[in-house]
Amino acid sequence: MVDKIRKKTNFFQDNKIEKCIIDRLRSAGCVFAEEEARLLISAAQMPADLVDMVERRAGGLPLEYVIGWAEFCDLQISVDPGVFVPRRRTEFLVRQAIDLAESGSVVVDLCCGSGALGAALTATLEWIELYASDVDPAAVRCARRNINSIGGHVYEGDLYEPLPATLRGHVDILLCNTPYVPTEEIARLPQEAREYEARVALDGGADGLDIQRRVAEEAPHWLSPGGHLLIETSEMQAPRTLEIFSSTGLTAKIAKDEELDATVVIGTNFN
Ligand SMILES: C[S@@+](CC[C@H](N)C(=O)[O-])C[C@H]1O[C@@H](n2cnc3c(N)ncnc32)[C@H](O)[C@@H]1O
Repeated sequence: MVDKIRKKTNFFQDNKIEKCIIDRLRSAGCVFAEEEARLLISAAQMPADLVDMVERRAGGLPLEYVIGWAEFCDLQISVDPGVFVPRRRTEFLVRQAIDLAESGSVVVDLCCGSGALGAALTATLEWIELYASDVDPAAVRCARRNINSIGGHVYEGDLYEPLPATLRGHVDILLCNTPYVPTEEIARLPQEAREYEARVALDGGADGLDIQRRVAEEAPHWLSPGGHLLIETSEMQAPRTLEIFSSTGLTAKIAKDEELDATVVIGTNFN
């Protein structure tokens, strides 16, 4: 046993192995080959796993699915194949929610995917009451893994439908990264998203805003007085998202972060 561990340790510390992995990843077109090689080496349990992981990555499988996690707001979020990989850009949505939330806020994350947003909010705010939902069973399994242990509740179903009815009128922060890619543009997404992420995580209908419309329409029934709805959108779609919010009676504004290329529409329930 000791011999086996020593062999394994020597194998992983061998610079030639790291160099081989970098070369293999680079030849497969991985832009961040050095960083990915280090992550693969640290994620592998045994040499045979490492070989398999490198080959899966070189074959095009997104790195996050190979190692089983994605970095989001400095946290390691568990992600399974097919479940939307949380994007750096969405950290802006989390930051906007943090600015508006208080300790004790009731927070709902609709279209929660892996549950990354709720996990990040919980890590920053002292205490929140967190509820999340998603229609995709694989996403729900992942979200439960990421947020049940920190006190979050995860429900499976269409938008608000699976949430406890007792939350109606009591949600202080309703945040949502809906699918917002217009159907026709899915074919133009990077291969890693197009081929490996579930269609339900990407497709926002003809103009990309179908789910946003449904979320905003029902939001006033769920928000507390003074509660906020925050939805990520694209810079181009933002004026339409703003109109959708306003048509439901929310007072809305657009927030942008140039560096992350992130746009969020924030609506407040003053009724
Ligand atoms: C763009 S992903 C965002 C996931 C996560 N919020 C994040 O930012 O990492 C959109 C998510 O919405 C979910 N979804 C799509 N339609 C839905 C619906 N009608 N009800 C609930 N969830 C839905 C998908 O399964 C997917 O997990």
